[in-house]
Amino acid sequence: MSAPRSPAPAAGAASPAGAEVRVLRDGDPAVAALSADGWTVAAESWGARLRVTAAVLGRCAAAVTAATDAGWELLVLGPHDAAAVVALDAACAADYPDTAATRHDVPDAAALERDLRSGARWAYGAAAADGRLDAVTVLYPSVGREAAMVETDFTVTRAAVRGRGLATAVKAAAVLDLAAQGHELFGTGGAGVNEASRRANEALGYLVTERWLHLLPPH
Ligand SMILES: CC(C)(COP(=O)(O)OP(=O)(O)OC[C@H]1O[C@@H](n2cnc3c(N)ncnc32)[C@H](O)[C@@H]1OP(=O)(O)O)[C@@H](O)C(=O)NCCC(=O)NCCS
Repeated sequence: MSAPRSPAPAAGAASPAGAEVRVLRDGDPAVAALSADGWTVAAESWGARLRVTAAVLGRCAAAVTAATDAGWELLVLGPHDAAAVVALDAACAADYPDTAATRHDVPDAAALERDLRSGARWAYGAAAADGRLDAVTVLYPSVGREAAMVETDFTVTRAAVRGRGLATAVKAAAVLDLAAQGHELFGTGGAGVNEASRRANEALGYLVTERWLHLLPPH
């Protein structure tokens, strides 16, 4: 599925073109040395964290209300929704930034169905009045450097309805529901070029905690 390589990307990962990529935290003194040797920044990525507070829950509730008022229903999705989630994601696959920092594979429907049934993943969606799934976010339990947390697998909105707050709303629905189940820390990340993704998260209270530079060698 999505691989934002965040917040701690694997050093020495391969770029789409197959060249070796060095992944260093922004500000690492080694960046200057590599740059002097001709390495160039091919892509940037970021990692963010959200800790549940009353203010966060208030922002999430407002985002859900805005989408509901605009005509979408926010849903907790289950195993029977896996095919619809995959169909939406497949229709949008070409819209994910494919960079040295991030890539996205459309999930396998059977695997997603199994994960949603077992609790290995959670999914939240926004459905139009006719039932069409227009946005979805998929998350999974993870262990960050600091504590157990809920990591985002991917979030996607149907192209025709982007910019209407649906990505923000499905992430908000996820935070509200999972916080009610006792989860306190959420993580996410993405490509530096994906401003919409970063802003959807920041609108709810995710704070960018780290930025990574993905460097390619000369030639
Ligand atoms: C990223 C994506 C999910 C955003 O979905 P969306 O429903 O349009 O997002 P929202 O309407 O909730 O907008 C979120 C924020 O991004 C901003 N935004 C929306 N489209 C934008 C764009 N093309 N460029 C910059 N900012 C944009 C919005 O203004 C909003 O910011 P604000 O709250 O400061 O106003 C959607 O563009 C998409 O599906 N892209 C392809 C898949 C992808 O890249 N997913 C993310 C990686 S997992």
